[in-house]
Amino acid sequence: MFDVVGDGLLVADAASWVRQRHVAATVFGNPSFRSFVLSTMARQTARLLVPFLDHAAAAASPDGFEIEEVFMRYSLDVSYASAFAADLDTLSVAAASAPVPLVGQATRVASEAALFRHIVPAWWWRLMRWLNVGTERRLAEAKAVLDEFVYREIANRKSQSLGVASGRRGGGSDLLSLYMAWPRDPGVTERQRDQFLRDSAVGYMFAAKDLIVAALTWFFYILCTHPHHHRHGHRRGEHAVFDSDALQPASYLHAAVLETLRLFPPAPFEEKEAVGDDVLPDGTKVAKGTRVIFCIYAMGRIEEMWGSDCHEFRPERWLSDVGRVRHEPSHKFAVFNCGPRSCLGKNLGLSNIKIAAAAILHNFQVELVDGHAVEPQDSVVLHTKNGIRVRIKRRKAA
Ligand code: HEM
Repeated sequence: MFDVVGDGLLVADAASWVRQRHVAATVFGNPSFRSFVLSTMARQTARLLVPFLDHAAAAASPDGFEIEEVFMRYSLDVSYASAFAADLDTLSVAAASAPVPLVGQATRVASEAALFRHIVPAWWWRLMRWLNVGTERRLAEAKAVLDEFVYREIANRKSQSLGVASGRRGGGSDLLSLYMAWPRDPGVTERQRDQFLRDSAVGYMFAAKDLIVAALTWFFYILCTHPHHHRHGHRRGEHAVFDSDALQPASYLHAAVLETLRLFPPAPFEEKEAVGDDVLPDGTKVAKGTRVIFCIYAMGRIEEMWGSDCHEFRPERWLSDVGRVRHEPSHKFAVFNCGPRSCLGKNLGLSNIKIAAAAILHNFQVELVDGHAVEPQDSVVLHTKNGIRVRIKRRKAA
């Protein structure tokens, strides 16, 4: 279903998954990787996102601009720099009038094709793949773009000393450097090793990039449609951007992000296949080989789980009496999945959403352009179909 990520962690099973999860958990648990990624998020927010929005505010177009594409470029610039320790700068003011680079679009195209494969019978999409038409043709093109792009990065890195991004930003703490530094198992050929690096880097782009885009897009959609939830004082200083440490005490922001994810989970459904006969806790029998699809979007809106106000946006439900963020078990709030396959980037992802959101809320006022229909796209990622058009104004300094 999701062969665009090769045999990587996101789709691996059994022994292969155990091996890859161990490598990924070690990389994600590495303090220098975490601090490199967190500082990359704040850096790209300060040097790309805020100046771009400043430029849009100065242009003051009455038709506004489409903000999901801005988040697409921003998230591409963050994930690319975190994975490869170099800057693509697709959101620089100069580059932003050019179309989103193909590599940025490729993950989105592949996610749409993956949903299509879930909807139609397997023989249907396999025939389309053989004929190279429709979503299957677009998927094949997207895969070719990703392959070309990532294999070129790997080759470049190999031609540098030791394969580590020593001369680059981050001093070897980026994803590719850490994966390349992992000892090669005996019996693994150079080609297999390159494929493992490719699958890991492409999987990272899938895991880290578009889900952040969807989260930020719906976050601003909700805030624009619930303006009384904006809580801010006066802006101080130019281009203020807060890093993840500074945002640690911001419980209301954290609660608002969790509440957005409950109502608009970026990965709206999950799929698993039973490896043996099983019985679910409610007594439902599941035969070996059955595919079970659970809808995380629906789970966030079930009255028995979240109360009679489950359709309302109410960040307060996440806050205790003393204003601390309440923990919800992951089998209830399954946005990051639960169990051994749960998201490895949960904290990094939440930090990224908060860093971008805080920078925007602190520096700008955002409002929706009237008459622009906002609805979800058919995809395995909860993108919007036609984007979200907004107008933006710079907040006045105190
Ligand atoms: C709002 C943002 C995010 C959401 C909602 C999210 C959600 C998820 C979900 C539902 C899964 C389980 C996929 C499955 O097995 O079916 C997952 C896995 C994963 N996520 Fe995230 N994720 C987010 C951000 C990130 C970020 C920023 C990173 C990396 C920095 C990341 C890294 C991963 C990895 C590596 C896995 C694979 C775990 C495994 O299969 O063992 N995620 N994520």
